[in-house]
Amino acid sequence: MDRREGVVSIDYAGFVQEQIAELRRVVGDATAINALSGGVDSSVVTVLGHRALGRRLRTVFVDNGLMREGEPRQVVETFAGLGIPVELIDAREEFLSALRGLTDPEQKRQAITDAFYARVFGRLVRESGAKFLLHGTILTDIEETVAGIKRQHNILAQLGIDPQSAYGYTVLEPLKTLRKDGVRAVAGVLGLPPAVTRRIPFPGPALAARIVGEVTPQRLAVVRAATAIVEEELAGTGAFQYLAVLLGDLATGIRNDRREFGQIVVVRCIESVDARTASATRIPWETLERICSRIVAIPGVNRCLYDLTPKPPATVEYV
Ligand code: XMP
Repeated sequence: MDRREGVVSIDYAGFVQEQIAELRRVVGDATAINALSGGVDSSVVTVLGHRALGRRLRTVFVDNGLMREGEPRQVVETFAGLGIPVELIDAREEFLSALRGLTDPEQKRQAITDAFYARVFGRLVRESGAKFLLHGTILTDIEETVAGIKRQHNILAQLGIDPQSAYGYTVLEPLKTLRKDGVRAVAGVLGLPPAVTRRIPFPGPALAARIVGEVTPQRLAVVRAATAIVEEELAGTGAFQYLAVLLGDLATGIRNDRREFGQIVVVRCIESVDARTASATRIPWETLERICSRIVAIPGVNRCLYDLTPKPPATVEYV
């Protein structure tokens, strides 16, 4: 820790060494497993884990069917480029069937949690013989969960659920003292490529956090297409996060001279430091119009809205 003129600068290189030493000490000769989502948090945990444990860490990428266009393949390729093998697990049907018929936000999150921990990942852990699970929980996840704002899917221990007896393994969370900016700094120290360090946050429940109402393959396809458009159009803004959301309502519209009852997509783009508070980005009108015209070209979508709401009172995600 370096304190000059009231500025506190954290020694992130020291943090990396400490965490690597701690992982080696705790895991000992056992094996560990971790799930990589491709986001900064789980990417940093993956690299820390591999530096600490080498081949005693098994890293999997669970394709839950809720990912963005081309995401599973891209993540596996990025880590192959870093010399870290990542196993791709196809669990799409398991997640989609767990979500079938659910519309309540917390029930959807719970279904994803259960599908991930109790079934897909639990099975992988049991098969692998690993005793430890490395997880990318950060401080903001813990604070918002404790405050009762939202149940993060990755926060079993902080909720008082004993992961050892509930799921049969011990959860290690090397990033739990950091916020998002700290995690990005650690990613820089670890030499992660900009594709990972500058990647905008993406939630654990993935596109399901951006579908109000039931998650179906058809509705996923709509939000996936809208997400690709928004990410392409807003990549140059430098905004903290940008996303597309599919609402649960339908709206009257008109296409080819006929009345159409169509789907509604919301575009959200925010400025933030750590996602605890946020304000809407002032996007040039022309950009918004271009995004709108591309989004209403997605079959079944006839309305596109831009969300101006700060956090609070809104959250970033819609579910
Ligand atoms: P909210 O919607 O709570 O989001 O304002 C704050 C930040 O956290 C991300 N987010 C999540 N990340 N699991 C995650 O790993 C989750 O369940 C989750 N929910 C929200 C969100 O994208 C934003 O950056």
